Amino acid sequence: MCGIVAYVGGKRAEPLLIEGLKRLEYRGYDSAGVALLTDEGMKIVRAVGRVANLEDKLENLGGLQGTVGLAHTRWATHGGVTEANAHPHRDDRSGICLVHNGIIENYAALRTYLEEKGHRFHSETDTEVLAMLVGELYEGDLERAVQAALREVTGAYAIAVICEREPGTIVCARKGSPLIVGVGNSEFIVASDASAIVAHTTQAVTLEDYNVCKVTREGFRTSTIDDVEITPKVMQLELDLEQIELGTFSHFMQKEIFEQPKALRNTLRGRIDEYEGKVVLGGLTSFAKDLVKAHRVLLTGQGTALHAAMIGRYLMEDLGKIPATAEYASEFRYRNPIIEDGTVVIAVSQSGETADTLAALQEAKDRGALALGVVNVVGSTISRETDAGVYLRVGPEIGVASTKAFTGQVTALTLVSIFLGRRRLMSAERSMMLLEELKRVPERIERVLEQDRTIKRVTERYVERNNWLFLGRGYNYPVAMEGALKLKEISYIHAEGMPAAEMKHGPIALIDEGMPAVFIANRGPQYEKVMSNIAEVRARGGHVIAVATEGDEHIKTVAQDVLYVPDCPDCLSPMLTVVPLQLMAYHAAVLRGHDVDKPRNLAKSVTVE
Ligand code: G6P
Repeated sequence: MCGIVAYVGGKRAEPLLIEGLKRLEYRGYDSAGVALLTDEGMKIVRAVGRVANLEDKLENLGGLQGTVGLAHTRWATHGGVTEANAHPHRDDRSGICLVHNGIIENYAALRTYLEEKGHRFHSETDTEVLAMLVGELYEGDLERAVQAALREVTGAYAIAVICEREPGTIVCARKGSPLIVGVGNSEFIVASDASAIVAHTTQAVTLEDYNVCKVTREGFRTSTIDDVEITPKVMQLELDLEQIELGTFSHFMQKEIFEQPKALRNTLRGRIDEYEGKVVLGGLTSFAKDLVKAHRVLLTGQGTALHAAMIGRYLMEDLGKIPATAEYASEFRYRNPIIEDGTVVIAVSQSGETADTLAALQEAKDRGALALGVVNVVGSTISRETDAGVYLRVGPEIGVASTKAFTGQVTALTLVSIFLGRRRLMSAERSMMLLEELKRVPERIERVLEQDRTIKRVTERYVERNNWLFLGRGYNYPVAMEGALKLKEISYIHAEGMPAAEMKHGPIALIDEGMPAVFIANRGPQYEKVMSNIAEVRARGGHVIAVATEGDEHIKTVAQDVLYVPDCPDCLSPMLTVVPLQLMAYHAAVLRGHDVDKPRNLAKSVTVE
């Protein structure tokens, strides 16, 4: 979602801000803008569409001079995708200029109040309301004006603010939306995430909710919105530039699909005790007793993370021997859920910032649940709001369509399930066997990746089709959902994923001559049942693409196209069967000419509910 970059230091700010915006492009956006404090006052340039459009505009203007500025990529919430609605926004009295990520929920009441005070608005955004409010409350001290304005605001925000009357100062603040302050040598970069900072410094301060930070070339001061001073913690950003650059790949999504073997080796590293047949999860050790006594696990997330959570549900019951459910965070939160004693909630999230997941987590915590996180981004809000957790360690995921985070989440959830299972009813022999097999998943994914050309050829055959079905059973039902989601996200092809058995209860009506139906038909306990479902599709003229187990010759007699994955225990199969589906979606998007890493309308991290 929206991306923020702000700079104060000794260098020319414009190129630095543009470079920062490019690093944040992956978050998803539909317009962009910059504001600089120049010798001739505040200059604002905004453009609809890509950051490249903004660059063109700046070039036509001959560039902006100045060493203090703000920049923003906007993902529209209030008001359409227009230049007038793009950030930065300014006030009409005090020389205030502001960028914002989040939603000001009481913006309508604030706007009425400000209009009564004579302010005139030029956009439909909630952000302009905040800029006007800061301007209205400004009495010669930007930090105080921002604090006062934020005390009036409900909703979520990460903001950066500058003022013509205080040219060497940026004031930034957050509640609910991420923001960090990169600390350089007499220069500071405020940004939505580390990717816009690491090219310049690896030291950063993470702001907590309701924190305000005043930054000048000389240093920074952190306080609450009530002006209680805080001692900030400076942390080391664990991100190197290579991880966020494309290298030899054409797209980040492609890079991340191919990175999966390495990524999962990292997820597993140091977490398997082969001799004891045990899982070692440092983050969970001090909660082991609570986990053993737990009565129920509730897994939650959104999008791809929810699909991983759904697999987690099967894993928890099958391996962990504990009742488990998985559900959309957005639904859980608002259905007045019953949380009994001994409930463990597991929030699954790549970014650790998804607003719905965070809200569900808070709801569960308020009702007494033990809160765990399965999160990728270190130091993210969910990782800080949970009692304990497991990091994915798959490295930064830039492609909007989540791939390596998904397999990382499933791997981490497998580890948690075995961690639990071994402390409950699982025998040492079974856990040793499973851990041995789990260690071999990365090399097995490598074998799937070797078939990239075949997968591309199969995709070419069906890429013109506008409706697809993805079907699977048991562990591979969530994989079918994930395959359909990947295709929708980046190739804009309509696809549905569902349990293969459900097809007969309605969706079978969709099947006509040549409709592609992708079956996950690995050799698992429900193999024969899946074969029957395949026959039902074939009988109605549908085209079957099967993801099957190596060595299965029979499948070739029933499916038109077969993509093989290596044999492995059924509970570990999702990490393999999902890979051909990721590659199919990738190739379909490229063949259709779409911008794989910047799919229309999508945001990488959805920080509004
Ligand atoms: C967005 C992204 C999805 C992602 C979902 C959950 O919708 O586009 O790819 O699966 O958010 O994100 P999270 O960061 O919580 O895993």
